[in-house]
Amino acid sequence: MEQTAKVQIKGIGHALPSRVLNNQDLEQIVDTNEQWIIERTGILERRICEPGMATSDYCYLAAIKAMEQARVSAVDLDLIIVATSSPDMLFPSTACLVQERLEAWGAAAFDLEAGCTGFAYALSVAEKYLLSPDYHHILVVGSDMCSRFVDYTDRGTCILFGDGAGAVVLGRGMGDNGLIKTILGADGRGAKFLYMPAGGSALPPSHETVDKHMHSIQMNGTEIFKFATGIIMDVSVKLLASAGLSFSDIDLFVPHQANLRIIKTAIKRANIPLEKTMINIQKYGNMSAASIPVALAEAEMEGRLRAGDLVLMVAFGAGLTYAGALLRWGRD
Ligand code: ACO
Repeated sequence: MEQTAKVQIKGIGHALPSRVLNNQDLEQIVDTNEQWIIERTGILERRICEPGMATSDYCYLAAIKAMEQARVSAVDLDLIIVATSSPDMLFPSTACLVQERLEAWGAAAFDLEAGCTGFAYALSVAEKYLLSPDYHHILVVGSDMCSRFVDYTDRGTCILFGDGAGAVVLGRGMGDNGLIKTILGADGRGAKFLYMPAGGSALPPSHETVDKHMHSIQMNGTEIFKFATGIIMDVSVKLLASAGLSFSDIDLFVPHQANLRIIKTAIKRANIPLEKTMINIQKYGNMSAASIPVALAEAEMEGRLRAGDLVLMVAFGAGLTYAGALLRWGRD
């Protein structure tokens, strides 16, 4: 790769279920109320996976759009990475199922599991592969069908999550636009704050695990909230410092959409104006690994991204994991 080549987003797309679950619907299911949900989370409604559909189906739909925009066909893909915590099944990987749907026979394929941080992690991993001349085009998809793993009797979690998928095709470009820097991190001491206890090798499925709702998301919301507000600032400051830039240089901030209060706390601390912040949590809730690519795809569709714009993305999630990416928008 030549010195000046940067890894660019060549195409982007997203796919969402058409089924909508709004706050009034939730009032019928669990002991909650619309006012509480809006005040504490900012969420008005979320999309819910249709019956018969799975994570790989929405990955495929988002991927097709990203590939069309990138003008890249399936045979041109060298690698497919699917970031998800809600794979179609434990194995094979969802990435292999997507490869089959796309007929991308020349592409290697694997899943990456980093909770809501998965897409940001996958961007960084793909960037490293694209340093090698053996790789030209990489499909990165972030997708989660959270509703399949939410306990709709637990009001502390069921109001938060929604389903969706977002995809990008990455390739090298020669201009100034593209990824400037990515950062990854993890703190396994926080693993217990967000997890699904059963269904893996520690606690295989049994009648007991099903009866005890152990195949659904368990969360300590207060701990995640504290972690999120701190880590968003840490990652942002590190990314900007590494490029000699500051918060005032940012054209669009695309944070993980977990809670409107977390986003507002972060932009207040960083002094980022609301109009330079991408927010769509009110429509979709927390879509986990799909959150950032869907927000980015919508920002582009809404005309909020121009070539050369400085974009800051920061995510956090189960693990606990965190990651961020700084890029100049645009492709050549
Ligand atoms: N409806 C009504 N009342 C509720 C609900 C609900 N849905 N949920 C909780 N309450 C009640 C509680 O029982 C409590 O009542 P009490 O005071 O009588 O005991 C009260 O509301 C306050 O509860 P808290 O949990 O303290 O509420 P908080 O303001 O912390 O908000 C929330 C909870 C929204 C979960 C918040 O902590 C949060 O968003 N945390 C971050 C979660 C997150 O980002 N998760 C995703 C991480 S990314 C990933 O990898 C998936």
